[in-house]
Amino acid sequence: MSMTDCDIGLMGLAVMGQNLVLNMAEQGYKVCVYNRTTSKVDAFVNGDEAKQFDIVGAHSLSDLVANLKRPRKVMLMIKSGDAVPTLDDELYPQAATADAVIEQLAALLDPGDIIIDGGNTHFRDTERRTKWVEAQGLLYVGTGVSGGEEGARFGPSMMPGGSPEAWPAVQPIFQAIAAKVGAAEDIPCCEWVGPRGAGHYVKMVHNGIEYGDMQLICEAYVMLKQGAGLSNDELYDVFDSWNHGELQSYLIEISRDIFSVKDPQGEGYLLDKILDSAGAKGTGKWMSQLALDLGVPSTLVTAAVYARGLSGQKQQRLRASQVFSGPDTTLDLNQFGGKAGFIEAVRQALYASKICSYAQGFVQLQAAAKEHQWPLNYGDCALLWRGGCIIRAQFLDRIKEAFDEDPQLENLLLHPYFKDAVTGHQASWRKIVIGATELGVAVPAFSSALNYFDSYRTPYLPANLLQAQRDYFGAHTYQRTDQEGTYHSDWLHLRKSPKT
Ligand code: 6PG
Repeated sequence: MSMTDCDIGLMGLAVMGQNLVLNMAEQGYKVCVYNRTTSKVDAFVNGDEAKQFDIVGAHSLSDLVANLKRPRKVMLMIKSGDAVPTLDDELYPQAATADAVIEQLAALLDPGDIIIDGGNTHFRDTERRTKWVEAQGLLYVGTGVSGGEEGARFGPSMMPGGSPEAWPAVQPIFQAIAAKVGAAEDIPCCEWVGPRGAGHYVKMVHNGIEYGDMQLICEAYVMLKQGAGLSNDELYDVFDSWNHGELQSYLIEISRDIFSVKDPQGEGYLLDKILDSAGAKGTGKWMSQLALDLGVPSTLVTAAVYARGLSGQKQQRLRASQVFSGPDTTLDLNQFGGKAGFIEAVRQALYASKICSYAQGFVQLQAAAKEHQWPLNYGDCALLWRGGCIIRAQFLDRIKEAFDEDPQLENLLLHPYFKDAVTGHQASWRKIVIGATELGVAVPAFSSALNYFDSYRTPYLPANLLQAQRDYFGAHTYQRTDQEGTYHSDWLHLRKSPKT
């Protein structure tokens, strides 16, 4: 084994780690790999795929470090849930494992060497770790990696942040392995995001948008299924046609595919045998929590997180379904101009809601960038998500164009392209939410998107009454529409005497 000639080291040979290594190796980089269960190192290095490349196995962290060119780059792909739990780790499950590994690594590395975390890490951990690692004279990169197993192997979307001095050293490797977009397929979906936890924040917002997209697609599915009785074969055709228009995206494409899969264990379709109880690993919840902290309304991701939560209460739902029945009605499809018109209305509701979801995601990014002093480039964020990742979609080109035209764009909804789309789809969107309400079918993401839109576009909200209530019971003060200043009123003395 030749020493000190590996371009990069990677610790953590779960599926994502393995695929990233193969991707790097295929791009001509020599990778040294290490895993805590060392039998996995040998099994991987000698496996059919890895054997074709010059991949070096290490049986200890110090071995891994000894094999690397300087400045050394060590990437950690620690699986979420692979944790030594501590109190803090109830919130951030990977924290303890990663902290311990980072400390061990830091002791083995020299000034200028780079530690890279490619997991779905909470940005606060990355903020903290960047500072700690930099204080040891080393450099730190916290990078979002999206695209699942396939993406990791053939081109993920990458969202790196951390110590800016580390970027020139990792840039060639990251951009070589990342997905490529553009007419010549030469624009990498990987660009420097910003200092400290900025990359992991952008990845979290990607995941929150992913939650929103998935929930919206599920609501479109249930409306088509329960509102118009579409079969899986029909759903396949509908999603296929949607995938050729403005909704074109990876998530629409895989949903289409899912409608075609027959149950390998018996009759019928696999989808119809899957328990309606959703899992979650927490990144959507993080985005909602942080939106609340910032005071920005990211209602789509929050609706999606709650929808997963309620789906998980399967036994309670079964009991409640014995107690309540919904409205005994069917949808009159004539009001949509028939079945085809209804399908088109669902499509329009989905697209308008999706625009609101992305608008909210970018508003949250802007608020976070301000709070943490990250110089984020929102057009670049859209470009990073254009290929490789789970939310990849054609319409991200429009978002990139919008932010390139106006980097300070206050809200995507205000850009002419999205304004026209939402305005044009508004009537159908409302009819679908009304139809769902009449049918008794829950569409929390469609309706919270519409409520966001209606709240956002109106010059008047009933918060004047809310301010009056706060001032009445707690002297919280209010402002007036006709005069400057802050006011408090003695409501008890000013009020009309109540009837006795
Ligand atoms: C990605 C995905 C990936 C993971 C999600 C799933 O970008 O490749 O977002 O990170 O599949 O985090 O999250 P849930 O288990 O919470 O749905």
